[in-house]
Amino acid sequence: MIDNDVITIDGPAASGKSSVGKAIADFFGYLFFDTGLMYRAVSWAAIQAGLDIRDEEAISFLAEQIDIKIYPASIPDGRMYDVIVDEEDVTWQIRSPAVNSCVSQISTYERVRSAMTAKQREMGKQGKIVMVGRDIGTVVMPNAKFKFYLEATAEERAKRRCMEIVRKNGEGVYKNILQSIKGRDQIDSSREIAPLKPARDANIINTDGKTFDEVVNEVISIIKIKKPGG
Ligand code: DC
Repeated sequence: MIDNDVITIDGPAASGKSSVGKAIADFFGYLFFDTGLMYRAVSWAAIQAGLDIRDEEAISFLAEQIDIKIYPASIPDGRMYDVIVDEEDVTWQIRSPAVNSCVSQISTYERVRSAMTAKQREMGKQGKIVMVGRDIGTVVMPNAKFKFYLEATAEERAKRRCMEIVRKNGEGVYKNILQSIKGRDQIDSSREIAPLKPARDANIINTDGKTFDEVVNEVISIIKIKKPGG
């Protein structure tokens, strides 16, 4: 059974999955769902609760209890959506360096993954959805008709992320960003459960040296050839 109206986009940290995914969702009138925010929300809550990041039992329990809600953006401050955890708006907090530095570790925990995967499948079942993450085409929605995997070198991704931070008036230190991206790549692709890798039937898109519009157009043209919903 093929999910005709599900589009998955996987790829490493800062590969452009979210902005490309949002553009594709807008183009087809689909819902956009960034699954990484769920692992980020758990990480944020674990930090808030003062948990030890290596305490798998406590973090797993938290992941099974946590209430994560995603709503359309309520404030025009550059956000794509609102992320509410236990009634608190954490949309920007989940992007902090503190969360970046522990989210990959937390994402290796089996019970954390099964709790998040169950919620993601629930959303995916609705159809007409673009889901982005690390294991969407391989594990969460293996029957999706349209699967993409975005790749780019760590250097190119760090450069893009650095420019994005500078544009938002922050201080982007290339060396630190590159190091953080490489660290997350290493953990995300070598973990035992649902590691980052392209699904066997994914369209692999190398984005090095391509503009955002070029990548979006490439994805759209592949989808149009295969006709969504058809
Ligand atoms: O896409 P992102 O950078 O916001 O993801 C943050 C982390 O969440 C990433 O380092 C690994 C984890 N993640 C995952 O394990 N599976 C997903 N489907 C999405 C994210």
